[in-house]
Amino acid sequence: MTSPIRDSAPTPGPTADPTPPPGCPAHSGQAPAGPGLESLHGPEFAADPAATYARLREHGRIAPVELAPGVPVSLVTSYQTALDILRAPETFSKDARHWQALADGTIPMDNPVVPMMMYRPNALCSDGEEHHRLRSAISDTLDRLDIHALRRYVERSADFLIDLFGPRGEADLLKEYSARLPLLVFNQLFGCPPELSDKLVRALSALFDVTEDSEQANALLAETLFQLIALKREDPGPDMTSWLIAHPAELTDEELIHQIVVLVGAGTQPQQNLICNGLLLLLSDERFRGDLAGGTMLIGDALNEVLWKDPPLANFCVHYPRHDATVDGHRLAKGDPVVISLAAANNDPYLLSNRRGNRAHLAWSAGPHTCPAKDPAQLIASVAVEKLLDRLPDLELAVPAEELEWRPGPFHRALAALPVRFPRTAAKSDEALAEMAAAATAAISGAVGRTPTVSGADAPGDGPDETVADTASATTEPEPRPESGAEHEARRRWWKSLAQWWRRG
Ligand code: HEM
Repeated sequence: MTSPIRDSAPTPGPTADPTPPPGCPAHSGQAPAGPGLESLHGPEFAADPAATYARLREHGRIAPVELAPGVPVSLVTSYQTALDILRAPETFSKDARHWQALADGTIPMDNPVVPMMMYRPNALCSDGEEHHRLRSAISDTLDRLDIHALRRYVERSADFLIDLFGPRGEADLLKEYSARLPLLVFNQLFGCPPELSDKLVRALSALFDVTEDSEQANALLAETLFQLIALKREDPGPDMTSWLIAHPAELTDEELIHQIVVLVGAGTQPQQNLICNGLLLLLSDERFRGDLAGGTMLIGDALNEVLWKDPPLANFCVHYPRHDATVDGHRLAKGDPVVISLAAANNDPYLLSNRRGNRAHLAWSAGPHTCPAKDPAQLIASVAVEKLLDRLPDLELAVPAEELEWRPGPFHRALAALPVRFPRTAAKSDEALAEMAAAATAAISGAVGRTPTVSGADAPGDGPDETVADTASATTEPEPRPESGAEHEARRRWWKSLAQWWRRG
């Protein structure tokens, strides 16, 4: 099949084509930002994104949109075109240093979308060899997770959270469950000892809640991660931090921090939104009513439907053309961002009559940057939902689904809150909760890792051939040893302080 992507002839020199002013929209081939351009950042878009995608399809497979005030980008709404771009790294770079309008100052660094899009030395923002090196460290590390231990850990953490809000008979499942569960899971996966756990969980929740000073939270996160890395270099354990350190890619401390931050960033917000959007579907859709305790199949179906219809990352996978290119008749200028609408592509009307298999959605992206964590992410979401419905079978929405508010923002599909009610559960003291959580998680903590297997290409289609971390199994990682009394006490104290903090709100 001939590629729909055509590279334009090299840009002629200044005499043939007078250089336009920096960031000139006419030169970029994008419509100027302003009233005429569809916005992806207002409350209107958040309330009904499907209506915006439908209007955008009138422009063809790629449409000009405004991502944030003053940030015009090209949005890909076609499934096939999205795949073509995601699988063409030779034409489209992930490195935001190609972003012309940011480089020349047309878009200021304080624009709200810049932190999500700017270059950082991590797998997400790198190409070619460098990407391969960083990604192999991440995916070989993820590949060592013991899925059974992960499941048990998610269950225990879920129990802890449900016990916290259960006696009230009401909760905001976004804040009190879906947002907190991934934090507990990461804390465990990274092998954070109790003395650092408190800082890590507080820094992450402050960053993502946006309730506290994000600069302060960022600084606390960096400081905590540096301490964690130093500790694991000294005393490695069966955890992701130690495996990243031991990986043959030999990441520096700075590289380690950047990869851990991307793991946490990529894994926390989308994870909470998958859990929440799945719960909303299960609680509000007639098809699932009456059978909420109906088991894994039902939950799997609901999550799969969310990944098709309301993917947690709705518009993302930003790419920068390395040179002027024409895709399906649309001109894309060198260095102008191209954003993939995973949500619009998944709901491309063309697919309705040409469905490609039930799991061929793009919620995890495709090509070399496909999410390397889709299996654990899916597991975490389904166990979280399963556990909640099992513990609270009479759970119901506290307000009609149509009245729920969606958070504005171009990238995510995220509820602002998910208020529910249910029959109260028996109250447990912080002391009792902490003791149960400490005992249960100590038993699991030595077992999150397993001997690595050969990691194959993990992307649907054409992910890079992952190299085998065959030396990783030979690391001098000690066998997990039973916890001492003092360690158990420290772990118990940590859970107790978390219970007290989260009960306060
Ligand atoms: C429901 C949850 C999740 C969803 C919907 C999701 C989705 C995605 C998508 C769409 C990408 C591609 C981004 C891009 O190309 O710009 C991606 C990349 C990535 N995700 Fe996930 N993700 C989820 C959970 C996780 C978790 C739990 C982790 C970590 C444990 C994770 C780690 C990563 C990493 C490291 C990348 C970058 C890979 C690369 O650039 O090669 N994700 N994810």
